[in-house]
Amino acid sequence: MAAKKSLKILAIETSCDETAAAVIEGSPRSEGNPRIKSNALASQAKIHGLFGGVVPEVAARNHVPAIIPLIELALSQAKVKLKEIDYIAVTQGPGLITSLMVGVETARTLGLVLRKPVLPINHLEAHIYASFVEKKIRFPALILTVSGGHTMLVLMKAHGNFKILGETLDDAAGEAFDKSARLLGLSYPGGANLSKLARNGSPLAFDFPRPMIKKDNLSFSFSGLKTAVFYEVIKHKKLTAKLKADIAASTQQAIVESLLAKLNKAIKKFRPKTIMLGGGVAANKLLRKEFVKSAKNHKIRYSIPKPEYCTDNAAMIGLAAYYRLRNKKIKADNRFDADPQLVLK
Ligand code: KG4
Ligand code: ZN
Repeated sequence: MAAKKSLKILAIETSCDETAAAVIEGSPRSEGNPRIKSNALASQAKIHGLFGGVVPEVAARNHVPAIIPLIELALSQAKVKLKEIDYIAVTQGPGLITSLMVGVETARTLGLVLRKPVLPINHLEAHIYASFVEKKIRFPALILTVSGGHTMLVLMKAHGNFKILGETLDDAAGEAFDKSARLLGLSYPGGANLSKLARNGSPLAFDFPRPMIKKDNLSFSFSGLKTAVFYEVIKHKKLTAKLKADIAASTQQAIVESLLAKLNKAIKKFRPKTIMLGGGVAANKLLRKEFVKSAKNHKIRYSIPKPEYCTDNAAMIGLAAYYRLRNKKIKADNRFDADPQLVLK
């Protein structure tokens, strides 16, 4: 039998409020990176903006009518027919249970009807693999994953080999952005809006807390920052545009400095060959700039995905599935359930 030339994966992501589908194609053996043939996404940000944050039941209900048209869109943009797909990959967790269930049930049903193997993928691992889109990664790699639900430093010694070095003890960095943005009256999702506002403000206007910065560990903490922003906001009778921009810039500065302090500590301790940034907060311009500066100071290679691969998307799910398949570190399973607490291992 002739060797199979390429591997085509249909990937599905529904862990939070983005419905996403993508098609990835790559060689089953070669060392090169796979190609992202399509990356389709339907954001529910406007709907959840009305509530000031993601409402799990609303998110799940909105995934249902969107998921099949998005899969069709991803296939047509990739010019691939459903029957040509070799595997279906889907986010198993972590995330919102009702949202995850929509993706998992869709993938399992498609797998059953089309007799295609289904691959359960960890969302956090997928955020890490978004860094593999363009760059060649040398191991050991150190990854800073910063999203709305997670803030963690991970050491990756090889494909599929992850060690969590430190995590947040309370709020995630994205949560700190979103909660502070809400206090400033900005619409959801607040991170990007807060960083836009920060452009007109001074990062030195307020000395907001950077709680774990001096501690000799790799843990993070952001709940104190939100409280400090709250007390600053209520101190003023009226929030002028200048004051709002200063609070935004000072908040962003405190978050980015806290992240960088631990990243630099981990670089010194573990001497990685590559550093990678992932998760929705990795779309933040100041964080990207400081991350590159740190890589250059330490003379190590770095990888930061394009913003569309930082925030939730299905291409990263396909990439994680592809590398697991290529390294024979996954078994197809058409019976698994969504797992909102799935851990990275
Ligand atoms: O990875 P992601 O899309 O979803 C989760 O898995 O959580 O991350 C979403 C988070 C939100 O908290 C959002 O406000 C934040 O990423 N975010 C940003 C920016 N763009 C998205 N935070 C700061 N600056 C940005 N430009
Ligand atoms: Zn995410």
